[in-house]
Amino acid sequence: MEFSVLWSLSVALLICPLYMGVGVLCEVTCNEERMDMEGGNYTLTKKLEYGSIMIYHCPEGYYPYPALTRLCLKSGTWKPAPRRRPLQQCKMVECPNPLVLESGSVLPVQMQYFVNNKTTYECYSGYSLRGSASRVCQANGKWSGGTPICSRDSGSEDRCADPGIPAGARRSGSSFGIDDKLSYRCDEGLHLLGSKARVCQESGQWTGTEPKCYYKHTYDTALEITEAFGSAIRESLQLAAPIDDTDQEGKKITIDKAGKLNIYIAMDISDSIAEEEFDKARNAVKKLIIKVSSFSVSPNYEIIFFASDVLEVVNIIDFSGDKRKPLEEVLDVLDKFKYDARDNVGTNLNLAFKTILERMAIQKQRNEMLFMEVHHVLIFFTDGAYNMGGSPENTVAKIREAVHMNNKEERDKYLDVYVFGVGSEIFDEDIVPLVTKRNDERHYFKVKNAIELEKTFDEIIDESKIVGLCGLHRNYDSGTADTIRQRYPWMARIDNTHEDGTASKCMGSLVTRRFILTAAHCFKFEDKADKIRVTIGKNQVVKGASRIILHPDYNINGKKNDGIKEFYDYDVALIQLKEDVDISINIRPICIPCTKETSAALRLVGEAITCKQQEQILFKNSLEEVSFISYDKKEQMDQRSDAKLKLQHQLRDNCIGLAATQVEGITPLNLKDVVTDNFLCTGGKQPTRDNVACKGDSGGAVFKDYDEYRTIQVGVISWGTNDLCPGGNSDVKQESSENSRDFHINLFKVVPFLKKYLGNETSDFQPLEFLEN
Ligand SMILES: *[C@@H]1O[C@H](CO)[C@@H](O)[C@H](O)[C@H]1NC(C)=O
Ligand SMILES: *[C@@H]1O[C@H](CO)[C@@H](O)[C@H](O)[C@H]1NC(C)=O
Ligand SMILES: *[C@@H]1O[C@H](CO)[C@@H](O)[C@H](O)[C@H]1NC(C)=O
Repeated sequence: MEFSVLWSLSVALLICPLYMGVGVLCEVTCNEERMDMEGGNYTLTKKLEYGSIMIYHCPEGYYPYPALTRLCLKSGTWKPAPRRRPLQQCKMVECPNPLVLESGSVLPVQMQYFVNNKTTYECYSGYSLRGSASRVCQANGKWSGGTPICSRDSGSEDRCADPGIPAGARRSGSSFGIDDKLSYRCDEGLHLLGSKARVCQESGQWTGTEPKCYYKHTYDTALEITEAFGSAIRESLQLAAPIDDTDQEGKKITIDKAGKLNIYIAMDISDSIAEEEFDKARNAVKKLIIKVSSFSVSPNYEIIFFASDVLEVVNIIDFSGDKRKPLEEVLDVLDKFKYDARDNVGTNLNLAFKTILERMAIQKQRNEMLFMEVHHVLIFFTDGAYNMGGSPENTVAKIREAVHMNNKEERDKYLDVYVFGVGSEIFDEDIVPLVTKRNDERHYFKVKNAIELEKTFDEIIDESKIVGLCGLHRNYDSGTADTIRQRYPWMARIDNTHEDGTASKCMGSLVTRRFILTAAHCFKFEDKADKIRVTIGKNQVVKGASRIILHPDYNINGKKNDGIKEFYDYDVALIQLKEDVDISINIRPICIPCTKETSAALRLVGEAITCKQQEQILFKNSLEEVSFISYDKKEQMDQRSDAKLKLQHQLRDNCIGLAATQVEGITPLNLKDVVTDNFLCTGGKQPTRDNVACKGDSGGAVFKDYDEYRTIQVGVISWGTNDLCPGGNSDVKQESSENSRDFHINLFKVVPFLKKYLGNETSDFQPLEFLEN
């Protein structure tokens, strides 16, 4: 009766099935009596069973106090046990003490500062303020803005600037000369994140990162994480980008050898992360992977879920050599992974790190030279709690040793350990020692819940900072001009004044920083480049054109003698701009066929990729979905229109055949001479209606989205059989009728023309790299 003490507890319920000869196996369950919380409520991860977690919930701006969570123990009691005093309640979120400003005053002076309380900061005379002059206590337990600092106006011989004192912290040390050291600690009840000690360096910079004092209820906002993690991961991705890149100044950075990148993702699925949050966490991981792939890097992945044991979803060893796992397969495996909370009572964080260490050891043993070139990025999602396997600190030290190879100084940049603290209760003290510490970089983030995490990864890798990747775009818009622009950042408008004073409007696409691709029929032969106005972005007029280049075989009168009034074969042209445009989130070139840039966007790796292979991917189906942009005059907005290319013989014949009945001069006999193989055909009502192009759409890109983030142009809008938009392009999304067809120049048919100008290697602009064949 050794359990008699426990059993006598009135709170414990028993289920004791009897097994012959084995003795009594008992399950004690927890109970809910007197567990309610004032102002909020709770959820249970596994009902009242052993291992279940009671998670308290409070409204925005409040947090559960004194416990954030309770764990149901084997004994049927909660840990921590509920107490009468202090009573479990929702408390208003507080921000750390701001009255730490030196040489200045803080108003108002209060004992405590709550959500929405505002403070203002003023410096004594002879001192001036850096940082925020007023701050508001936010719902995540942090002050808005940056730490206010009063620094002496003159006479300072200090090498480093006064770094101030963060709210809630104490600082020892007050001289800022070379090698001077400052150390920090936080008030009771707060944890220090960032550097505990900082040293003034000869460069005038402090080592480490600014310390911050966090309550257990303090979280980072999605925006804060996006900014900090985004810039760090971008750095890694750019190191690994396999193609030549051009920075904003137009300098060409050539990376000789593709940098190699290993990403190890480990997700805590023990009870410490509630079951309903699992799917969201999984989605966040998927988003991260998809986003990373859009940067033309193909990292090797290790993906594990862990609790008391480690479940390996993707093994990085499978990636080595030529056996690359395609991204789709990785995502598929992730999707198929079944979350089962029942098996997981323990959390063995150390085992997760050990698994990664082992995988590294195998790679190193197989090919040490290769291992040395690899950049390793570890991304952990955990609440930091573990109850098995011991502390992972030693294992993390071994991982560092494995990568540093006795040369920490040089090789530190090859390893990044990030931890996202996710969960109802996060154990900062246990996480902080694990993450990478590097000047001005953050590697530890506290996320309120998995929903916030998903939101964060949506924004995390900001496309605007990446140059040199064609077709990269935001994959959503909210119907406003600005967001539509970010979705179609290559879109250009062309206004052309002819010699006779008449004007015409066309669409075009930015294909390099120096060139716009459009239709030849937008120009007359005598047109002058300086009469062309190109607009990209909402109101951004490009500095002017220096050259109009029509396809040499374009000749609108070429078949006049055969009764064809206008002949549009090879209806493509390039406009060379006077100078490069600046790449930004709003302005970026689209990918065009048969270039190495497009191979990268299509994730075709290797030297032997051919133009044909790209064509087979982009024109895989007999009916291929494509899009183009029309301007909606009513809404004064660009809108996406959709159509299907009829590619297969019979479908194509039916599509183009109609021209013979609709267009003056075209007969079944001369049809194929007029509508040559260089045209792509859309329209009609079979099998579904397409959107039709309108007059002002000429020269616009016919494009295909590849995966979620890249766009490739496959055609140029040329001509149509029926003008279904009589008032110019006023009726946007005009639908195709039985007898309407649109014809677009197939870019795969005009590659030599594109290559001659866009691939010009002796020019003063960055050429596109075309495939050999
Ligand atoms: C629990 O509390 C949250 C936050 O205060 C509230 O949104 C939710 O409706 C509550 N649920 C129940 C069942 O009372
Ligand atoms: C600070 O916030 C608390 C709680 O909302 C409020 O009662 C108090 O009046 C505020 N103080 C100031 C100075 O605004
Ligand atoms: C390529 O660039 C050089 C230098 O600007 C120029 O002289 C040449 O005409 C260009 N070639 C073509 C085909 O435009």
